[in-house]
Amino acid sequence: MKNEEIKTLLSKMTLEEKIGQLTQIRTSYYYNSNTSATGTISKLKFTKEQKWMIGTVLGKLDAKMMFEIQKEYLDNNRLGIPLLFMHDIIHGFKTIFPIPLALSCSWDEELIEKTARVAAREGSSSGYQATFSPMVDIVRDPRWGRVIESFGEDTLLNSIFGVAMVRGYQNGDLKDPDTLISCVKHFAAYGAAEGGRDYNTVDISECRLRNEYFPPYYEAIKAGAKSIMSSFNVLNGIPATANTWLLRKILREEWGYEGVVISDWGAVKELIPHGTAENSIDAAKLSLKAGIDIEMATTAYFEALPELCKDKSMEKLLDDAVERILLLKNECGLFEDPYRGISYEKEKQTLLCSDFRKVAREAASKSAVLLKNSDVLPLERSKNVILIGPYASNSSILGPWSLDGDLNDVITIEQGLINKNIRLEGVETTCFNEISKEKSEEIIEKAKRADVIVLALGEEEEKSGEAGCVSNITLPEAQIKLLRCMKKLNKPLIVLLINGRPLDLTNVIEEADAVLECWFPGTEGGNAIADILYGDYNPSGKLTMSFPRGVGQIPVYYNNLATGRPKELLKNEKRYKSQYLDVPNEPLFPFGYGLGYSKFKYDNLNISKKELSKKERISCSINVTNIGKYTGIETVQLYMRDKVADISRPVKQLIKYKQIIINPNETKTVEFTIDEKDLRYWNGENQYKSDEGLFEFTLGKDSSEGISFEVRLIS
Ligand code: NOJ
Repeated sequence: MKNEEIKTLLSKMTLEEKIGQLTQIRTSYYYNSNTSATGTISKLKFTKEQKWMIGTVLGKLDAKMMFEIQKEYLDNNRLGIPLLFMHDIIHGFKTIFPIPLALSCSWDEELIEKTARVAAREGSSSGYQATFSPMVDIVRDPRWGRVIESFGEDTLLNSIFGVAMVRGYQNGDLKDPDTLISCVKHFAAYGAAEGGRDYNTVDISECRLRNEYFPPYYEAIKAGAKSIMSSFNVLNGIPATANTWLLRKILREEWGYEGVVISDWGAVKELIPHGTAENSIDAAKLSLKAGIDIEMATTAYFEALPELCKDKSMEKLLDDAVERILLLKNECGLFEDPYRGISYEKEKQTLLCSDFRKVAREAASKSAVLLKNSDVLPLERSKNVILIGPYASNSSILGPWSLDGDLNDVITIEQGLINKNIRLEGVETTCFNEISKEKSEEIIEKAKRADVIVLALGEEEEKSGEAGCVSNITLPEAQIKLLRCMKKLNKPLIVLLINGRPLDLTNVIEEADAVLECWFPGTEGGNAIADILYGDYNPSGKLTMSFPRGVGQIPVYYNNLATGRPKELLKNEKRYKSQYLDVPNEPLFPFGYGLGYSKFKYDNLNISKKELSKKERISCSINVTNIGKYTGIETVQLYMRDKVADISRPVKQLIKYKQIIINPNETKTVEFTIDEKDLRYWNGENQYKSDEGLFEFTLGKDSSEGISFEVRLIS
């Protein structure tokens, strides 16, 4: 259909049909008459007839179901407007990739794009047209369970990886039935919930929003994401769902966004408990005025808009929203092919095919971060191993938001070792939270016979993800006890961690000889972990979120603003400086950190010029030499500090990075260019600008160390 024809279609629609387009309910309403609303404040209110006017659905599906639902729907929809099927395809569909936080630790944009491409091919073959991904919320509080879905604490990385996912899902042409519409979320600053408690208050300055939190959403929509989801939280006291400043002024006026805005689940009616709407009528009015096109999972629009739209200005808002939704359906070719090329055969061939498994294995290897290695890794294949812990042979390593992943398809850690023909002295799967005395004794006896002890520890999946917040981020006591028991045996002791957030690892690091953060690694996790343990993959992951020394340090992140009393500068001052008296300011493991089996030496810094004029660019380069025995990937990071600005600026800010593969004894020169645009920020006076004067740059392997130089920006 031509876009102009959408207007004609719109003119034929009744008010009720228009409101239907703005309403999203669960897919199961179309195949299961028992489905009731969950997670909402009130039950859904729509009639049997209105069911055939609903615009979009969310939830589980397969090709056959999609076909049947769409057919019945079209048989009943007066104007033949197809349903649009949306779903949470977050880190893979059937082939599950590592959780997004893990993927970000690969720092590999192409790989991340590839995972989204695979997810789109799988999801679309089962009948979906849209995914609620990527989430590009900056996260700095590991208590918040949803850190698993983010790309970490840094603005640049969230922007780059968010864009990569949009590209992977949409692939530049939504008419291609192998693609999915991408929905960027959660607009805005959902990750800044106070105390790391989900759905809680966010109170954040405009400076921070514009300099740190907004750019990833902006970049994702500039990359073409066709939909965006508002967040549950308030901004400046007003819930995002009803926030006209956010959804109209920033998103539409300033950023020129023309796509669809969808509320989060139940968020329209949640304006009532938020205390900003008295009833559904208020909630619907505020949301439509603010710019929510699709109401997810509640029916305030159905209840209130017939009356509210007697007001012409409200009717106009309704028409605009319907038009955007119809345009979206048209954009992905639904009017021409409401079944969008799906077939049971295609689905069968696509899901979990061997090529996709390969991507999952690569992604899981590249996402793992080696936190400690006292020369015990990689392991020799001839040594016999005892594998112990809650994740030893546990297939629950897909992680939260893997709704369509099947545990039967998972390669467990045990299976990964078996696939490498490792001699297993024993495999002992223990409980997460308690281990009986008898079991401990039995394990100790078996472990005595092994050459190497591998402990697969971690958090249960339910402890992270949506509403998976905790106040304690250490491993359960039972697991620490197990670790200490094993330590007494004086054998190489390797800890593998399966979890969804930065943990307080102070106890673990002291005891273990090597610690590999594997996150929730997905379907191919066991193979990828075995690849790393035996040196078939040289670990290259780098943290994208700092690991604190304890909850008391939270939030701890690398790019905090400069203070008036910086600890590092006040060496002779004992007390009156920005510090804790009981722990260092620095996290246990900083942003950007990660070890490999090789070591890289940085030297020979070169800067083309020490002055940068606004029309020029300068370059800087550094030599990186692999002084180890293994070929490896190194991620060279360039940080910037604006030394004098209108507002306090971060003590460090990642502005560029490059990944290189280096062979043993090889040296590679890594070069970056810098221009004035790299130095800009929002100054609190509605200006994006740069400051003439001094900038400090640091080139290094993580955010805590590197080789620094200064450049002066001149006019
Ligand atoms: C609530 C979550 O916040 C959001 O991320 C998700 O996409 C929706 N539910 C739909 O399941």
